[in-house]
Amino acid sequence: MAATVWRRALPRILSLSPTITATPAAIQSHPWAADCPRKLLPLAARWDSRRFVQLEPKIDVDNKVDPFGLVAEEMAQLGRRLRDMVAAEVPKLASAAEYFFKLGVEGKRFRPMVLLLMSSSLTMVLPSAAAAAATSDEKNWRHHKLAEITEMIHVASLLHDDVLDHADTRRGIASLNFIMGNKLAVLAGDFLLARAAFSLSTLQNDEVVGLMSKVLEHLVAGEVMQWTVDAEKSSSMDYYLQKTFYKTASLIANSCKCIAILAGHPKEVAALAFDYGRHLGLAYQLVDDLLDFTGTKASLGKPALSDLREGIATAPVLYALEEHPALQELIDRKFKDPGDVDSALKMVLASSGIRKTKELAREHASKAADAVAAFPPTASDKASLCRRALTELTEQVITRSK
Ligand code: FPP
Ligand code: MG
Repeated sequence: MAATVWRRALPRILSLSPTITATPAAIQSHPWAADCPRKLLPLAARWDSRRFVQLEPKIDVDNKVDPFGLVAEEMAQLGRRLRDMVAAEVPKLASAAEYFFKLGVEGKRFRPMVLLLMSSSLTMVLPSAAAAAATSDEKNWRHHKLAEITEMIHVASLLHDDVLDHADTRRGIASLNFIMGNKLAVLAGDFLLARAAFSLSTLQNDEVVGLMSKVLEHLVAGEVMQWTVDAEKSSSMDYYLQKTFYKTASLIANSCKCIAILAGHPKEVAALAFDYGRHLGLAYQLVDDLLDFTGTKASLGKPALSDLREGIATAPVLYALEEHPALQELIDRKFKDPGDVDSALKMVLASSGIRKTKELAREHASKAADAVAAFPPTASDKASLCRRALTELTEQVITRSK
């Protein structure tokens, strides 16, 4: 019994400000004490206050938050583990699978960073039976695994995407299909999915397996939706946003939700984590779509105007269509006639398409920040800091230029 009580008390004890002196009076006046079972207070008081300092070093909450810096060490570990996880017996497969995990070409690793920040933001929990059974180390292990799985799924989808798009560059270097051919690029993607599936099974959580499997379905559905549009759907903003959720936002939304589930949070908190990921993902993609018009090959690491060249009408075009009906004809023939890409570009730039896309991205970014603001109150400086970092990311996503 005593062990169970301690396990339940620990997450709350760890959240105490490091400056608190662990006397019963100080503990009872601390914000978390209001809903803390009273019988735990004397137990908490026995905890040496110096240990709090050790467990949770003082963090200067007034300094500017650097989201990546906050999890830099964990990200470095994650990079090393990912490189280990993609090792394969067959040399050709190994060199293909590790291509985008090598130092220097890992990309922004935006998704793992968000998940690690989400993990630290959501440590404050009245533990469920599942979470109570897990030690803090186990929880971290699960969260790190999920971040690795998410990154592997993401890279696998990019390998397949570059084959479908006949892309010759990715992340500023030659794409894998360009270097090793389509067959190996597709198989390397399959291999990463296999490793991700194995890793997912080790989490032993059916709900998480279900959600991440749904993500795979969404990625495929979104990709197919993109190139099977009929005339009516090609100019529909709802269709475009649904496709964008499937292709881009579902992975981060569901992964964020899985972080909350794996930490034993109730479904309301899991829904907020999902909302954060969904809105952040949509804002991210909307900005991606406008950068395709305003960026350069050097800034993007891939050719500009690639969406138009691939025949895809994204948000800037759909907004521009409201002011330039002549765009419809170009959309219908997927900008395939000579001069179509240039004409579409001119009409988009002469319209408020870019501005409206940015506004929509801003709306989603702001809804993502609202979701974080609605997380259950926390007395932990670290969790507060990570929440600020998640909020800061909503701003960075819409102000980024690459
Ligand atoms: C980038 O799209 C691609 C995606 C976000 C996902 C693509 C999904 C598939 C190819 C389905 C297969 C999925 C798996 C899991 C193997 P983009 O072409 O719009 O962006 P880009 O400019 O970065 O290429
Ligand atoms: Mg592509």
